[in-house]
Amino acid sequence: MTCLLAIETSCDETSAAVLRGYDEVLAHKVHSQMALHERYGGVVPEVASRSHLEALPRVVEAALRESGISPARLDAFAATVGPGLAPALLVGASAARGMAAGAGRPFLAINHIEGHLLSPFFGESGIPPHAALVVSGGHTLLVDVGGFRDYRVLGRALDDAAGEAFDKFAKMLGLGYPGGAEISRLAATGDASREPFPRAMRDSGDFHFSFSGLKTAARYRLEKGFSDADIPHLCAGFQEAIAEVLVHKLTALCHQTGRRLAAISGGVSANARLAELAAARLGAEGIELRIAKPELRTDNALMIACVAAWELARHRDQPTAASPDIFPNFQPETFPYFT
Ligand code: KG4
Ligand code: ZN
Repeated sequence: MTCLLAIETSCDETSAAVLRGYDEVLAHKVHSQMALHERYGGVVPEVASRSHLEALPRVVEAALRESGISPARLDAFAATVGPGLAPALLVGASAARGMAAGAGRPFLAINHIEGHLLSPFFGESGIPPHAALVVSGGHTLLVDVGGFRDYRVLGRALDDAAGEAFDKFAKMLGLGYPGGAEISRLAATGDASREPFPRAMRDSGDFHFSFSGLKTAARYRLEKGFSDADIPHLCAGFQEAIAEVLVHKLTALCHQTGRRLAAISGGVSANARLAELAAARLGAEGIELRIAKPELRTDNALMIACVAAWELARHRDQPTAASPDIFPNFQPETFPYFT
């Protein structure tokens, strides 16, 4: 059974995981920098990079100690090489590459989006055909998945990602960063129908998203004035507008592709209203829904380890060449299995 170490440092989480086979978690550590970036109202790349440099040795050592596996006994090393913040990616990718070279083992360059994309299937031996929605702070993607390494990106955010829209609205309300979780907490006691927001591009006829208009609508609404008692309703209304468009387009993707299985992943998949609406809408049509487990929703190294394990299993006889670089931007052509 192969054993591998995976590292994730693409944004503001420093994480390491040791995985045996494709489903046995020997260790998983996540160190969040959230508190560090809160005062800036967003992630500052240089601050993130320095914090990764400081935390990574501790995080990796703790993961190895907990796993009981010495680096010499690891079969491969993996790290996120993109997309993400360049100075942050460099820290984890260089560390894993260096460890791999030192141990004389393969280095696997993993795409962060693929980590999110496959996270709802962690622990399973394969990836079934399905329609996928990846919703995080940096990306909103609709992907038709035929199986492992067979991905067709059919829709993406033309401006702000869904998580980014949540975070910006939270900032306008003075709720701190990142604000998605706080908005969904407040929305739980609100009434969405009291504060309706536009369903941007809901009926655009394609699979793309645009949430910047929603942000502008929210700014105009807040400029008209609001009281503390309005906040839960505002959060519920804003959340409903995002969830509605996401679920509408995910359902449309199932219709177009004929998929009977849908999956939602990424930080925003922690949103209870999104999950509820998706389960209701898809369930009514007999379409099965998978959502990543809580510890796999926000950025983590376990989802990276999982992709690496599948890659290793598939290419055991001919490991893929180590990628020479990092890829801060998501360019599907860099990862040929995304078309
Ligand atoms: O996947 P992730 O950890 O990082 C990126 O790869 O971007 O996603 C973080 C995003 C943030 O924008 C955060 O506000 C959002 O996920 N988020 C939520 C919730 N929990 C986290 N958004 C809405 N509702 C939530 N419960
Ligand atoms: Zn992410």
